[in-house]
Amino acid sequence: MAGRAGTPRVRVRMARLEDAPGLVPLFETFYGAFFGGRVTETAVAGRLRLAAPHESVIVAEVDDRLTGFASLRVTDSLDPDPYAELADLFVEPESRRLGVASRLVKYAEGIAREHGASHIVVLTGQKNTEALAFYRSAGYEEFATAMRKPLKLAESQ
Ligand SMILES: CC(C)(COP(=O)(O)OP(=O)(O)OC[C@H]1O[C@@H](n2cnc3c(N)ncnc32)[C@H](O)[C@@H]1OP(=O)(O)O)[C@@H](O)C(=O)NCCC(=O)NCCS
Repeated sequence: MAGRAGTPRVRVRMARLEDAPGLVPLFETFYGAFFGGRVTETAVAGRLRLAAPHESVIVAEVDDRLTGFASLRVTDSLDPDPYAELADLFVEPESRRLGVASRLVKYAEGIAREHGASHIVVLTGQKNTEALAFYRSAGYEEFATAMRKPLKLAESQ
């Protein structure tokens, strides 16, 4: 059902374990092989449980169907000026450019503020032009270079 002005009705809220079935297709598309196993309802519910102590998982519904999700980490640290990290953000391809990610990110920013974070950071691929365009439009700007190193299990300390 469309909203009063003919635009889809987008609702954003915290994820619940009962969202697992609706999240399966979203996780399949977003994480794919990186999920590390079959994306089943049980596996998704397990991930939601694992993430719960550290991450706020947020979902978006368009006309009562899950169409996107985001996750946010705000952790206590030595840093007296703590920041929040937007860990994941995904909107199913058919529901893009409807403002769904904008709503998810605004909601995440609200949670970050409530936790006392003074700013929010996000890591995204240098070649992910869609995400870069989205984040810029949402007020984010490049501020650092991310570096990484794969950790081998047997490497000595
Ligand atoms: C990036 C992504 C989350 C954007 O979701 P979305 O719901 O389509 O974004 P919105 O509708 O809220 O877009 C808001 C504004 O961002 C900009 N924007 C979003 N997608 C864009 C694109 N593909 N190209 C150019 N600008 C874009 C536009 O300014 C847009 O406003 P407009 O539609 O009025 O022009 C979505 O494309 C996605 O899930 N991509 C794959 C996953 C991903 O890369 N996630 C981020 C990595 S952490």
